[in-house]
Amino acid sequence: MLKRYFAAITILATLSQAKAEEWVVPADKAKKVSPFAFTPESKKAGEALYKANCMSCHGMPGKNNAIPLVPPPPDLAGTVAQSLEDGEFFYKITEGRGPMPSFKNSLSANDIWNIISYLRSFNDKYVQEVARKITREGITEGNIQILFKLIKENKQLQAEVMNTTAEGKKPIEGAAVKLFAKRYFGNLPIDEERETDASGMVAFDFPKDLPGDSTGMVHLSAKLVDEDAFGEVKSDTVFAIGAPTCKPALNEQRAMWNVVQKAPLWILFTYTIGVLTIWGIIFYILLQIRKIYILGKNKEILGE
Ligand code: HEC
Repeated sequence: MLKRYFAAITILATLSQAKAEEWVVPADKAKKVSPFAFTPESKKAGEALYKANCMSCHGMPGKNNAIPLVPPPPDLAGTVAQSLEDGEFFYKITEGRGPMPSFKNSLSANDIWNIISYLRSFNDKYVQEVARKITREGITEGNIQILFKLIKENKQLQAEVMNTTAEGKKPIEGAAVKLFAKRYFGNLPIDEERETDASGMVAFDFPKDLPGDSTGMVHLSAKLVDEDAFGEVKSDTVFAIGAPTCKPALNEQRAMWNVVQKAPLWILFTYTIGVLTIWGIIFYILLQIRKIYILGKNKEILGE
């Protein structure tokens, strides 16, 4: 009886472990590829970054000397890790899981690609796939614009990126676009960064409950991510796509961040008293100086 009990426990434990060990990367993330080709320089930069950020747990690549954690940090030059797609590598390093930290906020995308460049140098069979990058040479003239189109039924916003030249309008393919909802304090990113397709289109999904103003209006701003290639290209619009909110706008009532007329009364009051007091003191001092002056004059007249 006891034996069976233990057998069941062991099977359960193995099953749950097997389940926990599988780390699935969303398909669209797995397809991500590096925007630049790996070079001896990127490998070198990656090596330094790896030694500073990863070696303490994963050990030296190819040496199987990781520290014993649960689950164990795999040797990243090993066949299991090397069978990952570049996008999977990138996703796992950015997101982290369990004891594996997320490097989203401490390393830039470039840093992470450099580390991957370093780790791939241990794999002879690796052939790199590079994202097609648009350079300024490709678009030397014209006026790049982002045009919005709202698809109401499925809460989707489409944007079309077009370059207008003397010869006419041409779509820009492969440009990353970011979408924001404007808020009083900073911008709220909506959906993820998306790349335009062959017809220059991108589609963004909206959260169903995105708060708008009292009539559901949302101020939107889209911009092209690659400013090196395109310069600063952005476009603003307003759509009734949000959930109407009855909350008073942040600048409707008296508040610290409002303009003078709408500042809190206590600030206006304290400020006025402060200003009056300082001017009072200045006048008092001037008055005393005048008194001294008159006294001096009187003494002169008396010939003392
Ligand atoms: C604090 C220890 C720690 C540090 C630091 C660390 N890792 Fe990890 N890493 C782990 C652990 C533990 C796992 C296994 C996580 C799991 O499977 O849930 C892991 C998993 C991974 C995986 C997934 C491997 C696979 O086969 O799925 C990759 C890739 C990875 N780490 C890369 C890195 C890189 C690159 C760095 C440095 C930028 C780094 N890690 C820093 C502990 C660490």
